[in-house]
Order: sequence, then C-alpha cells, then structure tokens
Amino acid sequence: MTVQVPLVDLDRQTEEIRADVEAGWSGVLERSAFILGSQVADFEASFARFCEARFCIGVANGTDAIELALRAAGVGRGNEVLIPANTFIATALAVLRAGAEARLVDCDPATYLMDQGEAVARLNRKSRAVVPVHLFGQIAPGDDLITVPDLVMIEDAAQAQGARRHGRAIGSFGIAAATSFYPGKNLGAFGDAGAIVTNDPELAKKVSALRNWGSTEKYHHPEVGFNSRLDTLQAVVLSAKLARLTQWNEERVKAASLYDQMIDDRAKPPITLPGNDHVFHLYVIEVDDRDTVMAKMQQAGIGVGVHYPVPIHLQGALGHLGHKVGDFPNTERAAQRMLSLPLFPGITESEQEQVVEALFAAIG
Ligand SMILES: Cc1ncc(COP(=O)(O)O)c(C=O)c1O
Repeated sequence: MTVQVPLVDLDRQTEEIRADVEAGWSGVLERSAFILGSQVADFEASFARFCEARFCIGVANGTDAIELALRAAGVGRGNEVLIPANTFIATALAVLRAGAEARLVDCDPATYLMDQGEAVARLNRKSRAVVPVHLFGQIAPGDDLITVPDLVMIEDAAQAQGARRHGRAIGSFGIAAATSFYPGKNLGAFGDAGAIVTNDPELAKKVSALRNWGSTEKYHHPEVGFNSRLDTLQAVVLSAKLARLTQWNEERVKAASLYDQMIDDRAKPPITLPGNDHVFHLYVIEVDDRDTVMAKMQQAGIGVGVHYPVPIHLQGALGHLGHKVGDFPNTERAAQRMLSLPLFPGITESEQEQVVEALFAAIG
C-alpha cells in the first residue's frame, strides 16, 4: 500500500529552505571553514536569542548534549540522576555515559511526562541531578524539584524547541537544557546535531571545552574532553530553519487543534497542561488494541508510529538496574496504548481528515 499521509514529511521543509541552504553552503565551501566556522557561532547566537538564554553551545547530537551538560555540572561517578521511565533511550544512555546511575520515575498517565511527586519521593542520598524530559513538545513541570538543595536540573528539550511554560522557554528551568536537532525534530538538521542552552557562564565555558577535546586554547588540554562539535554545514541548515520555526510551530499547533476537534474519547486526544505552550513535536493519542489499530491504519496508507513501544526499564541497556514488568505501570500501559498520528508543518486539512477517517475505521 502506498503511503497517503506520512508520519513526518521533511520534503516540504527542505524545499522551503533549499535556496538559503545552497547559498549558505557555498559560503562555507569558499572558505573551507568546515569545523567551527563562523556559521556555527551565528547559529548559536540566534538559537540563544530564540530561547531568551545567554548562551548556546552547539554539539554533535542531542545525546552528547545531555552527557556534556551533566559532566559540566559535575555529575558523574557515584551520583544518581532521576529520569522518567517514559522517554527515548538516549536520556538514560547519556546519564550512564556520564558515569552516573539512572534512577527511573514513572510518568503521569494523563500527560506521559515524568511524575514530579514520584520523583521527589525517589530522592535519596545519592541523588545529584534530575533530567525532566519535555516529551512530545510540552515542558515537564519541575517546580518541586528545582527547589531541592544541591539537585542539578538539566532539561531534556530534544522534543521542545519553542515550547514555553508560564511564558518561560527551555533552558530557564534548570541550569541548562540539552536539545537535539535530529532531522525529524521541530528544528532539525540534515544529519545529527544538538545544543546546550544555558544562562550559566561557568557551565557554558565548561561545555565549550568539553565538546572540543577539553580545550580552550589550541593544543592545551587540561581535562579529558570529546570531539562533539556542531558541524558548520548543519549550522547553515539550522539557521535557515530557525528563521521559520515560529511559523512552523504555529502550523503544528493549528493542526493539533484540528485533530482535537475531530478526535473523541475513543482515542483520548493529548492533554496540554495549564500554563504550557505545547509545540506538538508529536501528536500522541491512546487507543485500545493499539497494534491492530496501527496495522490497519498502515494498511490504509497512514504513517502512524509509536513513541515508544518498549519502556526503557525493560531494555537490556538498563538491565543492570534489575527492573521488571510492573515496576512502572503508567509507562508500561502507555507503551501499549500510545499511537502517534501524522503531524508536521504543512499537513493539510484533507490529509488530517484522511488520518481521522482511517483511525475510526480501524477502531471500528
Ligand atoms: C527525548 C530525547 N532525548 C534525547 C534524544 C537524543 O538526541 P540525538 O538523537 O540527537 O542524539 C532524543 C532524540 O533522538 C529524544 O527524543
């Protein structure tokens, strides 16, 4: 069956920015400034402005962004980091790679975001940091965590470029936000890319060194660092897309509210928390017998997806934590019931109508 409506359509965005990218890339080629060229600093300044933050440091991908932010904040061996069980695996892997241990927290069944009350209850002597994940495009509440003495908060904002909570943007809740510019994100590169956004000058300085072999001065390496720089060619793409991000996010919100009108309780439309400006990285509903509904929709040419089918506590990568089925019931239930519908800037009303028609036909 040919795809009638894809889950994500990047071609439309690519066409919109093609001329800007071609012009920008020829500037890079003329100067052969492939590593940390001026376009990287230009994008960092623009993205910091977009987030109303003082600093943005571009890195190679979103996983590195989380790891480097944790390391720069002094989180590592012997520390525990609270993270939601309901997230993409990268959140957990970044914690482990920083040398710390992950302490998982179940999600709020209404929003799928980390349950803040449970996170507070899981704090212990080893708790050193928390990484709330602004999942699907809305900011995870963290007011009760930010006031815990000596607990560092790094926001995982991979899915939330442009989201706000009570008017505040990513990076203003914790000491830093880490984000991903994976191609399908609201702001996506033409490959891997990521960034850290912060108002903290010390953290910004440390991350800038860590991404560049631990160096602030060429050939001097006072500490162990990484090769994790934002590629100059990707910075050109990101600047071109950033100029359109507000409009593209508005298109997502508009499409989400059209779905809200068309979808009823048979498929539990997503909930936006009061105070949140959601940017709908994903539009996630819940259905009974999800796998059958998904298969039928795919047969009808609708590109649906599941984010995420296997909770991270049941992944081999976290097997050392000794978790079992039943440990995080809200996350496990969501993993069996959630379904992501096609949503991207430029999706048309008639495409959305096709999606909803296929959805209700599949539900029966
Ligand atoms: C919530 C979340 N955290 C972290 C990441 C990791 O980002 P990247 O793929 O750029 O390493 C992603 C996306 O892949 C994500 O969705």
